[in-house]
Amino acid sequence: MSLFWSLWIMFLVVLNLGITFFLFLWAPRAKIPVREDGTSGHVWAHGVLREGVRRLPMWWIIMSAAMFVIGIAYLVLFPGFGRYKGVLNWTSHGELAANTAANDAKLDDMMKRFSLYPIEQLAGDPNAQQLGKRLFQDNCAACHGRAATGNILLGAPDLTDKDWLYGGNGKDIYTSIHDGRSGVMPPWASLGEDNVKNLAQYVLGLSGRPHDEKAAAAAKPLFVTCAACHGPEGKGNPALGAPDLTDQVWLHGGTQADIEHSIRDGRQGHMPAWSPRLTDDQIRVLASYVYHVSHTDHADSR
Ligand code: HEC
Ligand code: HEC
Repeated sequence: MSLFWSLWIMFLVVLNLGITFFLFLWAPRAKIPVREDGTSGHVWAHGVLREGVRRLPMWWIIMSAAMFVIGIAYLVLFPGFGRYKGVLNWTSHGELAANTAANDAKLDDMMKRFSLYPIEQLAGDPNAQQLGKRLFQDNCAACHGRAATGNILLGAPDLTDKDWLYGGNGKDIYTSIHDGRSGVMPPWASLGEDNVKNLAQYVLGLSGRPHDEKAAAAAKPLFVTCAACHGPEGKGNPALGAPDLTDQVWLHGGTQADIEHSIRDGRQGHMPAWSPRLTDDQIRVLASYVYHVSHTDHADSR
């Protein structure tokens, strides 16, 4: 606060307190002309209402005096009088810092306890889940959604199902979060549009859905290329993050057009590494949260 504003505020405080204090001292002594009938002579409503004259009651005077004392004591103890900091040196920043430090200390104890348990066991700890949920909403919900059910447009997988690109035990989930993941599906436009369409029919057949059997049969020999990553039966490979193509779970959409797009243009999913941004303990708590939501009924986890 500049000196000018500081002085200006001091001036206003003194002026206001001064005027009020003067009124306080003056009012009880003020001479008010009183009529014989005990009124001031002011009338309203054509004489129906007349203004009486009474001394201020004692309780009012005591309370007002107390308020001056409290007001001045406040200005001595706390900031409020211009730049003057107050005897207690209190600041809202200071109070926030003290509260944050106290909270961190509490959290530290909790975190130390959490680090003793395996991730699967933490998934059953309500405190860990409360913290995990908060961390998830802050860091992960933007891509995976608030309910962790994924976002097909971003290729961010549903984390509440039991279908995993990279494995679903505590350690796998921890590694996905700690190191990040990048799944690369190369584009196959070079095979020609007919082959792309035939392969899509073959993939539809893998997940047991209606498809053109002739087209699928024509694509079968080509699937050898795909098998390098997706496995000979199309069941996927967690080491590469290549999805299982035989289930009904789709990372990038399961319509014929989505599948053709995946094959023709390729797909890339990038999950950032969180080790630079979150502590190891926070990542373990998050992994336990993901483990928890994937092992509960969806209705409960929301
Ligand atoms: C180099 C390894 C690799 C090869 C070869 C490969 N894929 Fe993929 N495929 C992937 C990966 C990894 C993903 C997941 C991409 C991601 O993480 O977003 C994927 C995704 C897909 C998807 C989308 C699945 C979904 O759930 O949305 C389809 C469909 C697919 N591949 C079909 C094929 C077909 C057909 C071939 C053969 C022409 C093929 N892939 C060859 C690695 C591969
Ligand atoms: C920028 C978007 C983005 C953010 C933010 C993000 N993720 Fe992901 N996540 C992805 C994508 C995309 C994939 C799939 C990677 C692939 O296709 O290979 C993924 C994959 C995963 C997987 C592996 C799933 C499986 O099936 O194996 C886990 C677990 C996961 N994320 C958890 C998290 C957690 C926990 C956070 C918050 C700390 C988070 N993610 C933040 C985009 C994101």
